Amino acid sequence: MNQNDIYLLFLQRFMAVLMKDKLGHQVFTVISDIASELGQDTYVIGGFVRDLFLNRPSVDIDVVTIGSGIKLAEEVAKRINPKIKVSVFKNFGTAMFHFKGLEIEFVGARKESYQRNSRKPVVENGTLEDDQKRRDFTINALALSLNKPDFGALIDPFSGISDLQSKIIKTPLDPVITFSDDPLRMLRAIRFSSQLNFFIDEITLQAISVNRDRIKIVSFERISEELNKIILSKKPSLGFKLLEKTGLLEIIFPELFNLKGVETVNGIAHKDNFYHTLEVLDRLAPNSDNLWLRWSALLHDIAKPATKKFVDGQGWTFHSHNFIGGKMVPKIFRRMKLPLNEKMKFVQKMVQLHMRPIVLSEDVVTDSAVRRLLFEAGDDIDDLMTLCEADITSKNQEKVKRYMKNFSIVREKLKEIEKKDHIRNFQPPVSGELIMETFNLPQCREVGIIKNAIKEAILDGIIENNFDQAYEFMLQKANELGLKK
Ligand code: CTP
Repeated sequence: MNQNDIYLLFLQRFMAVLMKDKLGHQVFTVISDIASELGQDTYVIGGFVRDLFLNRPSVDIDVVTIGSGIKLAEEVAKRINPKIKVSVFKNFGTAMFHFKGLEIEFVGARKESYQRNSRKPVVENGTLEDDQKRRDFTINALALSLNKPDFGALIDPFSGISDLQSKIIKTPLDPVITFSDDPLRMLRAIRFSSQLNFFIDEITLQAISVNRDRIKIVSFERISEELNKIILSKKPSLGFKLLEKTGLLEIIFPELFNLKGVETVNGIAHKDNFYHTLEVLDRLAPNSDNLWLRWSALLHDIAKPATKKFVDGQGWTFHSHNFIGGKMVPKIFRRMKLPLNEKMKFVQKMVQLHMRPIVLSEDVVTDSAVRRLLFEAGDDIDDLMTLCEADITSKNQEKVKRYMKNFSIVREKLKEIEKKDHIRNFQPPVSGELIMETFNLPQCREVGIIKNAIKEAILDGIIENNFDQAYEFMLQKANELGLKK
């Protein structure tokens, strides 16, 4: 045994003592009691154990037992509280219940790979080590004993603790086997790397590149779940750069992949919009945990390749990339099985409006331009401003300073005008019904013209957003149209 081994052994013993403390929750004591009564060796395993060592909060507990997981779950639930409802999945040999905010899943150790989402029924029972080696990564294959004689002891046959310390994502078996058991694991490797700021071991990383096409058999529901976790990580660019490097990005997200690259004409190059997008997302991350605002950052320039043109005398242009980008959002969301509801509409709106505050701040910031922006963004104006501030990625510090200063003027003006005019949730102060009633009109074009003229007058600051001024303006407009009261 060399110095290093002794140190590791000491560390593992020390950890076991610590872990015993961490397993102080009532539920672990009951599991331990019942497992002993049933004569089934039982362990807590997987993400929960990893997160205990990383000090990350976790409410999903996976329990593996050498014997029937279903029987163990039923007996444990009965002892804690007979009213607890146990969900049993006979085909998979698993059972789970909720208790005090925890989700506890029980499974019998198996030789087959652990595949929660697979339709394949469980086949052969196995030992704890069989079960550990068919898990995805060494850091997810850690187990803590819940057995009376060595409660809290760590069982770590694949040096998961050492990988946790060295911040390494590595498969317990040959990665080709681990990834062919479940190709989603290629994405999980990248997701964990991005979430935890860990490196992917070189051989594991190479196996992802080699097996990348296997991702095609995975459903988009599962892919998007992982993408969302990458997007929500502290520095999402880490994950997206790995997706690009391994070749997965091109397969699962070709629109984002297409942003990559620089073209030069007459010595003029445009920026690489892939890296720009990632920078925007990273800059946004500390300011917002809103998944959909982060998606907006990822998609804000998505139509740049489709709208790119080199114009003599102007250089590179990307006209209407915000509008075309907005149109691409539903297509991307549909393919990726992301929600097609108000969340998608929010992303679409952000993509379409993302240029507005910048254009506004480049010019003199007029009240009417601010009013129009407030009208279109409504309650999402703060999110839009956060996105736009993240979009300033220029290396020229003077330029950045100027933009930021102008943005703060825009923000001030937004506050001022909202206080005065209440444009954020604009409701026309004079309704269509009142126009019809006043001039004895049926529903017709003139009603629309008057209503729109009132709205425009308010946005332009010709009248204030109140009933009296709007009513007066209506009379005036109707007169111009030759209408009588
Ligand atoms: N697992 C696996 N292969 C998969 C999915 C899961 O081997 N494709 C195993 C891992 O041991 C993992 C455990 O099942 O730790 C629980 O999976 P899951 O709850 O999906 O992930 P966690 O690791 O707990 O991480 P998170 O909660 O962040 O998703």
